[in-house]
Amino acid sequence: MAWERTFAMLKPDTVQRGIIGNVLSRLETKGFRIVAMKLIQVTEELAAKHYAAHVGKPFYDGLIKYITSSPVVVMVLEAPQAVEQLRSFIGATRPNEAAAGTIRADFGVDISNNLIHASDSVSSAAQEIGVYFTQGELLDYERAIDEWLVGR
Ligand code: CMP
Repeated sequence: MAWERTFAMLKPDTVQRGIIGNVLSRLETKGFRIVAMKLIQVTEELAAKHYAAHVGKPFYDGLIKYITSSPVVVMVLEAPQAVEQLRSFIGATRPNEAAAGTIRADFGVDISNNLIHASDSVSSAAQEIGVYFTQGELLDYERAIDEWLVGR
């Protein structure tokens, strides 16, 4: 199975609650390979690019206010079928509907402060990676564990 890239953001609540390490630890333990990562302050301009698909929705203004309210951690992750794997790993948007064991179910209680964002398709991953990272920031490397993550 070919490895694929996806985009993830540890949102303001994850940073402010001091649980970046817990969430990152889960992502690493699952097997995602981190190929880019940084702590940034999202500007209104970046937020508008990222959430362009939600313009006009009732929660849009609150979403922009929330995502720009604190630093966040943005990252690019790789795994076989990374987009799908990450979406199911973080759980449904509403924490009360997220399956037990997912990040949103285990750490959150609110639809807005739902800890982590993950791209919903390969094309939105490419678009979101482009919003937050330059091509030169995406590292191409293999880890010693990679050959043990996937059967031959
Ligand atoms: P995310 O995966 O980052 O993508 C868009 C975000 O909008 C979503 O997580 C939620 O945090 C937020 N969102 C989606 N639907 C609603 C809603 N009905 N009310 C408030 N926020 C929402």
